[in-house]
Amino acid sequence: MLQGKKIVLGVTGGVAIFKSVQLVSNLRKQGAEVRVVMTDHAQEFITPLMFAEISGNKVATSMWDKNQEFHVEHIALANWADCYLIAPATANIIAKMANGIADDLLSTTLLAATCPVIVCPAMNTNMYENAATQANLATLASRGVTIMEPNAGFLACGVNGKGRMPEPIEIQNFLDEFFAKREGDMRGLKVLVTAAGTREPIDPVRFVGNRSSGKMGYAVAEMAASRGADVILVSGPSALKPPANVKVINVETTCEMLEACLAAYDEVDIVIKAAAVADYRPRDVADQKIKKKNDDAMTVVMDKNPDILKTLGGKKTHQVLVGFAAETQNLLDNAREKVVKKNLDMIVANDVTMQNAGFNADTNIVKLLYASGDVKSLDCMPKIEVAKVILDEALKIRANRE
Ligand code: PMT
Repeated sequence: MLQGKKIVLGVTGGVAIFKSVQLVSNLRKQGAEVRVVMTDHAQEFITPLMFAEISGNKVATSMWDKNQEFHVEHIALANWADCYLIAPATANIIAKMANGIADDLLSTTLLAATCPVIVCPAMNTNMYENAATQANLATLASRGVTIMEPNAGFLACGVNGKGRMPEPIEIQNFLDEFFAKREGDMRGLKVLVTAAGTREPIDPVRFVGNRSSGKMGYAVAEMAASRGADVILVSGPSALKPPANVKVINVETTCEMLEACLAAYDEVDIVIKAAAVADYRPRDVADQKIKKKNDDAMTVVMDKNPDILKTLGGKKTHQVLVGFAAETQNLLDNAREKVVKKNLDMIVANDVTMQNAGFNADTNIVKLLYASGDVKSLDCMPKIEVAKVILDEALKIRANRE
């Protein structure tokens, strides 16, 4: 979402300013253009030259500097931006903003800004918690300024508490989500995604599982979040890093996954069930590791697990319900049966015996089967691209219902 975005970064005089340097670098790597405005106090910590080098643009520091690109119409700087970010934001600039004070370049351009403004407070805990600062932040929030909460932790002043500026990557993700929520075509929608395989324990060290890595489901969650959706990702164990801006609920067993899905179900608009779910679980789970015996064989009695997707299908009201079918034979017939039995709007059928498809591959080759009986075949493509098409189709199904 940050590609091509124009961001003005207002930097005030706080110790956290060193993080702003990394932030500018991160934003540029994401394709954003960044122009930095520094207060006099900020320049006591770091010279404008540092930000000029990192941002690739002149740094604005004064209303009166004739050499500044935006010197005549300092207001133009505020109008140029897609977003005005203040990081770090001291108690001083927050107070000035709340009271409409414009006594330097930063506060003046902020007063003139028509673009969205995001403030990242960073200060001593007592200053942050002071009633004046809290009242000022509340005032700003009531005027539509977005406040990114500071983190708690060890502060430069030696205190352990709230007031730390979030890390550059956290601010970058926050901006990403901020733009996605404003501009993405899935903004306002809630999406539930399941991913990876469930595990059914046999004893404390063994389980019945499957080969799902989570790549397919994580790709769907990532794509939905980048398009502005509120995403809940219910995931079985996976080695993957959770996508940014996604609420992750980690589960292990099918019953836990069912519980997590049911808890979210009423509130979501779209469900994409990419998880590979165990159909059976061992009836008895041993408390201790099962010892090897002299017998040549061992029997584990398995009980049937609930079918999560079928349960959701039975309770479907407004949701668009999309399942996956992992098949090794009769792909279309088996998938079609699942669409009907589980009351789905669409199923993504993958023949998991194919190369570059199915479990743990970075690509997938799928056929989309609709409740209408129509079938659409997709070429081999990266899972993130498959995710995009699945979400496009889910949106079309939703639109056709309205
Ligand atoms: O994670 P990756 O390594 O990227 O691999 C991706 C994948 C191959 C796991 C994925 O593309 C996929 O096919 N997921 C579905 C796997 C599966 O469980 O298929 P199934 O045909 O057994 O189940 C059909 C549907 O019912 C699935 O949406 C499944 O989540 C759901 N199900 C199945 C059984 C059960 N008890 N409850 C369910 O909800």
